[in-house]
Amino acid sequence: MQCLVLGGGGWVSDNFAFSLARALNAPFSTVYTKVFPDGESYVRLPGEASSFESVCLVKSLDYPQDKGVAELILELDALREKGIRDVTLIVPYMAYARQDREFLEGEAVSIRALLRILRAAGAQRLYVVEVHKAESLKYFGGEAVNVSPYEYMAKFLEVDDDTVVIAPDIGAYGRAERLAKALGVEFDYLVKTRDRVTGEVSYKPKEVNVEGRNVIIVDDIISTGGTIAKSAGMLRAAGARRIDVVAAHALLVGDAWSRIMASGVTRVYAANTVKPQSGSPIIIDVAPTVAEALGGNR
Ligand code: R5P
Repeated sequence: MQCLVLGGGGWVSDNFAFSLARALNAPFSTVYTKVFPDGESYVRLPGEASSFESVCLVKSLDYPQDKGVAELILELDALREKGIRDVTLIVPYMAYARQDREFLEGEAVSIRALLRILRAAGAQRLYVVEVHKAESLKYFGGEAVNVSPYEYMAKFLEVDDDTVVIAPDIGAYGRAERLAKALGVEFDYLVKTRDRVTGEVSYKPKEVNVEGRNVIIVDDIISTGGTIAKSAGMLRAAGARRIDVVAAHALLVGDAWSRIMASGVTRVYAANTVKPQSGSPIIIDVAPTVAEALGGNR
């Protein structure tokens, strides 16, 4: 059954939806959104939506996240009221994913709350581009798929045989593995080491020697740029030659871009899941890989 691909409003969502529709060879439309003078959200479905039994709604939850969440709830409810039961929700950037457990007593598990709400609001199935932890998708309580963008992004990277992919920490090791395997190069992650004499703390690749080699740091999110800048600085100190970065979601808040550039990074590649708030990363359109994950039958 062919779905109507619906951009849920906003530059990122509508462009992503347009590219997805093209890859699926499916019809495309957008939701009209506006903000009332008091700050409340308004959404209106396009007229043609009611003539489809199946809709693929694309809504990225990038900045301002709370506005996006409010619009998305309204959109899902409006689709249900139009009798459209088959709703596939595609979220290029899933916000609130890093608060995935109760770190301190009494804290809300934000991703659990959000996914439960989206399911209850009418999303039948969910496709997300590289959520912070794929296990979190269990909170959706229905079919939920994490789409890895790195294998597709690998096609756009310049590497040599001696390039090495490095994760900034063990949490991103799987990401480094996926990208490195697609590129056919080595991979590793940074571990904290403490000098026994001076007590100085530094981060070094666990096993791989980066001296004189080109390095690609991979992570899911760049927010303040602190993780990437620190990692790049350490890799530079360990003798790395050119350092590039691959990220799924380049939020690049505040002075993130200048911090990253000052740390010696040459290029930052990012997926088209968010609108970076600073800098000029090289944006790769990953909608075709989401189309492939959807199976071409939507
Ligand atoms: C953390 O677990 C994430 O995977 C990212 O490493 C983190 O969100 C990056 O944040 P920042 O750019 O502020 O260091």
